[in-house]
Amino acid sequence: MLNLDLSNVSPFLPAGWRAGEEKGLKQAHEYVMNGTGAGSDYLGWVRLPADYDKAEFARIRKAAEKIRSDSKALVVIGIGGSYLGARAVIETLTSNNYNLARKDGPAIYFAGNGLSADAMNEVIDLVKDVDFSVNVISKSGTTTEPAVAFRIFKALLEEKYGKEGARSRIYATTDAKRGALKGLADQEGYEEFVVPDAVGGRYSVLTAVGLLPIAAAGIDIQALMDGAREEMELLSKPGMDNPAWQYAAARHALYESGKKVEILAGYEPSFRFFGEWWKQLFGESEGKDGKGLFPASVEFTADLHSMGQFIQQGERVMIETVVRFDKAHSSLNIPNDPENVDGLNFLSGKSMAFVAEQALRGVILAHVDGGVPNLLLTVPARDARSLGALIYFFEFACGISGYLLGVNPFDQPGVEAYKNNMYALLGKPGYEAQKVELEKRLGC
Ligand code: PA5
Repeated sequence: MLNLDLSNVSPFLPAGWRAGEEKGLKQAHEYVMNGTGAGSDYLGWVRLPADYDKAEFARIRKAAEKIRSDSKALVVIGIGGSYLGARAVIETLTSNNYNLARKDGPAIYFAGNGLSADAMNEVIDLVKDVDFSVNVISKSGTTTEPAVAFRIFKALLEEKYGKEGARSRIYATTDAKRGALKGLADQEGYEEFVVPDAVGGRYSVLTAVGLLPIAAAGIDIQALMDGAREEMELLSKPGMDNPAWQYAAARHALYESGKKVEILAGYEPSFRFFGEWWKQLFGESEGKDGKGLFPASVEFTADLHSMGQFIQQGERVMIETVVRFDKAHSSLNIPNDPENVDGLNFLSGKSMAFVAEQALRGVILAHVDGGVPNLLLTVPARDARSLGALIYFFEFACGISGYLLGVNPFDQPGVEAYKNNMYALLGKPGYEAQKVELEKRLGC
């Protein structure tokens, strides 16, 4: 079970702050559970850990096994919600050096999450001489970055294996009915997986979007879903003892008190990418209508030597949510040195876990003393079950937080602005007038 400690929040808020949030939380909970709020078309994630498509789940496992047996590398093509969750889970549960540290299974390279020719050429060089497969993921099937990457890797596969051979190495995860990728996958006969209509990108990690790459990395996706389901059952119950209510209440009350930034901090290097997933979840869900806590993330203790100064003494606009894993994968003791030239013998025989725990405790006290409210979330272990629970916890908390803030947590209208400008400047048919106007502004 996850444990949320808010003892370092209350000193920053007026007495009775919890009660002040209760009415809004009741309403927000009802919106999420009953689909009566804005964006209710996108609540497919709420019961997903129980109601997922079991036949497709079995196909995902089979495809992952095939990839593990016939490929030395898997190129996962996707951006935003079609990318961040898979990478977050793979790295958190294995290593931020997954490709170097893995004992078996394919190397996993992520492509189509940007427009850098250098990054794309690097992945091409890494896979072109080994057996590889491609999982292209795009709900809309029209996003430029993954579409460009897929065109390139499809051609590479066809050149290497022929059209037929390539077909058996391409897995397309997309909409069940619409979009260019759906059309292409149907036409070419790729194995297809579905992004359910009612699940938005940032909520899709527990669909085929995340599950196929995660399973290909050898991770137990059943345990991931089981952990999420257990958390779902817990959080479905309304009340102030619901940990998602408590998290949403604290961050909302702190936001109302003038805080503008929430920092997610972890102490495991492998957790760094989970911060990227979390930033998208909260950033896209809450950052609209001129509102929202800006989500940032740090890795401690490394970033204490960079961002630590700002957190301790900079503009007092932030709150800190620390994710602490109770159990490490391994242990390591600090050796004794009879010479003690480095003066470290006071740590001889102590475990790294003990040292890290004292660092965590000391940092929390220092930051609280520096005016940064602290929320401490303890996760039992860095395993699939616990991570499934953590994912669901943040998803649910984000849904109710967004409603508490008074926004639609399930749309992202602001993302279109850059896309439209880029399409116009690239000369996409239909954007002719906008092209003229933008080029005039750019002085072309
Ligand atoms: O959360 C979202 O909706 C976005 O981040 C999308 O996932 C992202 O833009 C990619 O979209 P698509 O999967 O349609 O290619």
